[in-house]
Amino acid sequence: MLTNLAVRDIETLVHPYTNLATHREVGPLILERGKGVFVYDVSGKDYIEGMAGLWCTSLGYSNQELAEVAYEQLKKLPFTHLFSGRSHDPAIELAEKLKEIAPVPISKVFYGASGSDANDTQVKLVWYMNNALGRPKKKKIISRLKGYHGVTVASASLTGLPANHTDFDLPLPGILHTSCPHHYRFAQPGESELDFSARLAAELDEMIQREGPDTVAAFIAEPVMGAGGAVTPPEGYFEAINAVLAKYDVLFIADEVITGFGRTGEMFGTTTYKMKADTLSCAKALTSAYFPLSAVLINEQVYEVLVDQSKKIGTFGHGNTYAGHPVGCAVAVKTLEIYQRDRIIEHVRKVEPKFLQRLTKLAEHPLIGEARGVGLIGGIEFVKDKASKAQFEAKKGVALKSTSFAQEEGLILRALGGDRVAFCPPLVITEAEIDELFDRYERALAKTLDWVKAEGLLAG
Ligand SMILES: Cc1ncc(COP(=O)(O)O)c(C=O)c1O
Repeated sequence: MLTNLAVRDIETLVHPYTNLATHREVGPLILERGKGVFVYDVSGKDYIEGMAGLWCTSLGYSNQELAEVAYEQLKKLPFTHLFSGRSHDPAIELAEKLKEIAPVPISKVFYGASGSDANDTQVKLVWYMNNALGRPKKKKIISRLKGYHGVTVASASLTGLPANHTDFDLPLPGILHTSCPHHYRFAQPGESELDFSARLAAELDEMIQREGPDTVAAFIAEPVMGAGGAVTPPEGYFEAINAVLAKYDVLFIADEVITGFGRTGEMFGTTTYKMKADTLSCAKALTSAYFPLSAVLINEQVYEVLVDQSKKIGTFGHGNTYAGHPVGCAVAVKTLEIYQRDRIIEHVRKVEPKFLQRLTKLAEHPLIGEARGVGLIGGIEFVKDKASKAQFEAKKGVALKSTSFAQEEGLILRALGGDRVAFCPPLVITEAEIDELFDRYERALAKTLDWVKAEGLLAG
């Protein structure tokens, strides 16, 4: 029986990333408030937010300091922009902090309001820079199958997932996708992680040679693939990729939108996986998601090209109204201060063994073929048969079913393509809360197994 609020939702909203036909039947889960790692629906039921919202509420819910800093900034200067050389203190202070903590040498910061627009900026900068450098053919960008970089026209093109391309007339020409580095699913039988990594790097090398190195401008990758399945890279992967990119003068864009600010147990995933990135995209945990804000971090070389170009053509013609919003920047400065003061990274490293132990133990369950993670992010994959890694028919939605059982048990998780489920709780989660999270999911898994059996899905 749908509540009045649920009916009003159905009457009025188009939900992003939702099966719109199913939504009309089942209605929304309406959340009302949150505290720590818990959120509460309108009936008062509690849920552990096992996905930190959308991989973003790193400091959990109802953080008073963040709320207060936003309120103070709203009272003092609720808006000013950065166009035409305008500026404000929070934007400057945040850029200084980002330069200080960046994992690679960074010269300047360009703000946006979402991860998608940050990656669109990256694409436009690459094109603009190569025109400025007199190499107008060097424009192609290589991304990865199952990579996720957002939904605006260029960033959806970078994204390597069918749902973001089908019937949207994407990807744009000149955006290519190389193989997905998911060892469990795509390695050949008996192939070690190192050999798999070397094979993928050789494939990238061949792709660049085939396209022509003078036409390939950049490569973009998430340190840990998020929406593509919460997949950690195989051993030696980024070291092998670094070498290929350096060989052909291909710019390396690290999409740190999920991994930035502690998620992997380092401040940036770039450090965890030794990525030789030239530029970075950040968002989400930059403000612990208390305000929409993104940042593109560029090196001196890219910046100098932009300045030279301005000398020739005048205005750098890119930017949006809310880029570097003073409230967002003030919240981000406070968020970074809290990460440092409360030693968030040390905390992540302290609870990581518990998280990984409970996560990897899920692979003992008869339906789970793989369970793997790093820091406080991980993914599991449902299989019909562990030995052959055979999967259930995608339309049966086994992973999705497990997340709806999890919801019954008071746990929010996200089912992803490939029959996978992602785990990405707020970074402030305690060991006891990690146990509670996995206890709830184990109960959901037991219900999933009963359901799979009752539906006869194991047969054949
Ligand atoms: C790695 C990565 N890049 C980019 C994006 C896009 O960010 P947004 O949804 O803020 O546009 C996301 C969103 O989940 C992401 O995970």
